[in-house]
Order: sequence, then structure tokens, then C-alpha cells
Amino acid sequence: MIVRAALMKGRVALELAGISGAARDMRYLAAYVMGIAAQDLPLRSQEVLSHTQITALERAVDARTLGQPIAQIIGKRQFWGRDFKVTRDVLDPRPETEGLVAAALTLPFHDVLDLGTGSGAILLSLLADCPSARGLGVDISLKALDVARENAKVLQIELKRSAFLYSNWFENVTGDFDLIVANPPYITQEEMLSLDLGVLTYEPHLALSPGGDGLDPYRIIARDHGPFLRPLGRIIVEIGPFQAANVCALFKSQGLNGLKVHQDFDGRDRLVEAYKHA
Ligand SMILES: C[S@@+](CC[C@H](N)C(=O)[O-])C[C@H]1O[C@@H](n2cnc3c(N)ncnc32)[C@H](O)[C@@H]1O
Repeated sequence: MIVRAALMKGRVALELAGISGAARDMRYLAAYVMGIAAQDLPLRSQEVLSHTQITALERAVDARTLGQPIAQIIGKRQFWGRDFKVTRDVLDPRPETEGLVAAALTLPFHDVLDLGTGSGAILLSLLADCPSARGLGVDISLKALDVARENAKVLQIELKRSAFLYSNWFENVTGDFDLIVANPPYITQEEMLSLDLGVLTYEPHLALSPGGDGLDPYRIIARDHGPFLRPLGRIIVEIGPFQAANVCALFKSQGLNGLKVHQDFDGRDRLVEAYKHA
């Protein structure tokens, strides 16, 4: 079978399974089994696929029809211009989280703490773009920490600049930082019921929801940040689109200042930023 025919066949299978963006997904899957970059596919569309490639593609299409995220099937996700390894143990880094990286890069920082680091996407993007900075990523998932460490290695962020630590939020953290970033789990218990089945089945629930009203991680960050944030240091957290007022109130009640809500490209509240008084 030639690539073009395999793309068509897979596309139909994905569309029948109700997968949106089927054509785009097929390009990623075909490029993955061929071991090439997706942008090179048009030049190779007349190539004949080997038996092994066809079998691998069929398996990948089957996984996608069941809702498995493309990033998990192909094992990587491009985030802030770099490839990050993604497995079932980490959240597939979302494009909207790039807004957090962009906002953090406008701030002066040298030591950064990333709470709930997952694949390390936020921390490693910041360190890759700020060669003089150092950072600590913490997570309660040991398997996620393994993925983050591998990503640090591949991105050549040296050991002396990045460390990853098992910690329930601040519990095992020592030292202080001039920037704290977090994209904590924030989906409410109720919202989990209406979440996309693929996300629910394949992404770690620990990364998606803390249960209840989704605000517990912000309560902990607000309550416990004190010893870890230097005077004039900043906190930036990603939030759910309807959480800005609650998160601002929590941060304000614990003495954080200069509260700022950032919107994403769709105009939805996406980040809360604050700083600590001198
Ligand atoms: C929404 S994911 C964010 C992952 C990554 N920072 C990103 O933006 O792609 C939240 C992360 O918080 C971690 N997490 C959940 N509860 C935690 C806790 N009590 N302490 C530390 N990390 C926690 C999860 O394991 C998950 O990796």
C-alpha cells in the first residue's frame, strides 16, 4: 500500500470513530511509523509502505480510534518549540500552557520552582530559554519524575541546572526561589464526569483533578509558599477558565500582591500572577 492510500484508509477509520482532526492525526501517525518528520510527508506520499510499517500504522490507528492521545501513541509532544517525551504517566502538555512559559519569560528569575512538573515541560522550557537559570521540578508521581529527568537529559539541561524531586507540593522542598510556577490539577470533580473519554481513559487522573472544587492545590500554594518565595519573587499558576476570582482571593488572603489575570488567545482566563512584598 502506498502512503497516500494508507492515509485515506486511516482517515476514514478515525472519522467513523468520531475523532476530530482525523487528517492531521493520520499525518502524525504515518510520519511516526515511517520515522520521518510530519512536514516531509507530502514529498513521500507515493512511497510504498513495508509490511511492518502497515502493521504499526494499523495498531496506531486502532489506538487513536479508542481515544488515546496522539502524543502518547507517538511518544512525544512538541511544546514551546521542543520535543518532550510523553507517556501514560504524564499529562500531555497542552498548547495553552505555553502561555505560562511566555509570561514567566518576561520576568527576571534565576531560581525557579515548578510544582507538579509532570513531563517537565514548563520548567525545562524556561531553563532552555534562560541558560543562566536553575530550577527544581517536584511531583508526587515517581513515574512522571522519571519522564521529566529523561526530557532534561535529551534537552541537555545539565544536572547542575535542573533537579527533580518527589514531593507532595512543598513538603520535601528546601531552599528559596524567585519564581514559583505551577500548572496543578484543577478540574473539578463534577467536570471530570463530562471530560473527553480519551483524556479520562489515558491521562493520569492525578494530573487532571484534585477532586472537589478543583481549588485545593491553590489553597496549599497560597498557604505554604511563604518560606520558598523570596521577597519580590513571583508566582504564576495556570487556572481553569472560571477559577480566576477564587484563586485571586486565595492568594490575596495569604498576603500575595499585584494580582494579575492573564487570558489565553481565546480570551479565557488562564493564568494568575502575583508577587511577594519586599
Ligand atoms: C496538570 S499536570 C501538569 C504537568 C506539567 N506541569 C504540564 O504543565 O504539562 C499536574 C501535575 O501535578 C502533579 N501532582 C498532583 N498532585 C500533586 C501533589 N500533591 N504534589 C505534587 N505534584 C502533584 C501530577 O502528578 C501532575 O504531574
